[in-house]
Amino acid sequence: MNEAIRPGLETAKQATALPVLSVVVPTFNERDNVTKLYRKLEAALDGVAWEVVFVDDNSPDDTWDVVRALARQDGRVRCIRRIGRRGLSGACIEGILASSAPYAAVMDADLQHDETQLPKMLSLLQSGQAELVVGSRYIEGGSADSFNRSRAGASALATEVAKRALGVAIADPMSGFFMIRRDRFEQLAPQLSTQGFKILLDIVATAHGDLKTVEVPYTFGSRLHGESKLDSMVALDFLGLVLAKFTHDVVSLRFLLFAMVGGTGLFVHLGTLYVALKLFGLPFPQAQGIGAFVAMTSNFILNNFLTYRDQRLKGFAILGGLLAFYLVCSVGLFANVGVAFSVYDKQPIWWLAGAAGALMGVVWNYAMSGLFVWRKR
Ligand code: GDD
Ligand code: MN
Repeated sequence: MNEAIRPGLETAKQATALPVLSVVVPTFNERDNVTKLYRKLEAALDGVAWEVVFVDDNSPDDTWDVVRALARQDGRVRCIRRIGRRGLSGACIEGILASSAPYAAVMDADLQHDETQLPKMLSLLQSGQAELVVGSRYIEGGSADSFNRSRAGASALATEVAKRALGVAIADPMSGFFMIRRDRFEQLAPQLSTQGFKILLDIVATAHGDLKTVEVPYTFGSRLHGESKLDSMVALDFLGLVLAKFTHDVVSLRFLLFAMVGGTGLFVHLGTLYVALKLFGLPFPQAQGIGAFVAMTSNFILNNFLTYRDQRLKGFAILGGLLAFYLVCSVGLFANVGVAFSVYDKQPIWWLAGAAGALMGVVWNYAMSGLFVWRKR
């Protein structure tokens, strides 16, 4: 062993206190729940060397501040306060990677997940019976009665799609409650999506069946305080994950949405052209120019609300973004026409040349918009 990292006598003594289990808890506006969860963990994990890592996205209700207070009293409590970022999956990934315990669990802060299952989950991992243990609502002994009917239906449908499209074999791939062996997680981590909510599905799909998994039943409780952060956009998010995994990360949902928005732009363009020509009697070149202008503007607005919802430009930044978008699209138009011409030159098939040009245009616009308009900060 390298001399520099050989444990000294002191550190060797401390080694007994090193955590075996890291419980990672993503939080957003959970200030009334975190202390209760901490107490419950303390009771449930009696006799286990554990730690809890709260990953808070700078909650407006100052959840992180409550966690800091706990951490000052108990070294097993840790707090990661992330600024300028949102996202459940990313928070979980970051929390797991910020710890070094050989086993990591993920659970909600709101007491919906049954912490008394943790010792059992841990022993399944420690005994080598599993590399991943999932708290499941959908096997004998588990339940999700606290779900309202529409959410229960949506959850069941998503589970079915995931199973069929991705060949995921577990009963509850949407669960937000699981425990995994660190070394296996570290192997998969670089391929996981930091966007979205479905981290477990992502882990299971990315492992392609090569992850010994056991499910334990639990009852999905009612949220203690506050409200669910998962809105209807989770459906979109879910489809994006299925699509990306299904195409081995070739097609992203973002690209698909961007292309669809581009498609709506065509109709906006033609509609505007019609109005400008027929109702206002403008000459064709002007009408065509106005059509393109209106279409680019509506594309920008739709992309800002849908495609780049998570990085939405706000306030003054909208103006800068819009100008950059006009510029990107104008160059994209040249690329489009250029490619169409050169294809038509070799193969005078109008629809082939047109489609090649349009594809070039949308790929260009997408790539450049990601760089210059909705740039990741
Ligand atoms: N850091 C961070 N950032 N945490 C977040 C964010 C975020 O953007 N959004 C939500 N959270 C935290 C919440 O504070 C909570 O502790 C946990 O993530 C889950 O969010 P909830 O709002 O409680 O979701 P839910 O109860 O509707 O859905 C849960 O249960 C489902 C079924 O098991 C989640 O665990 C889902 O992933 C799960 O599918
Ligand atoms: Mn919850």
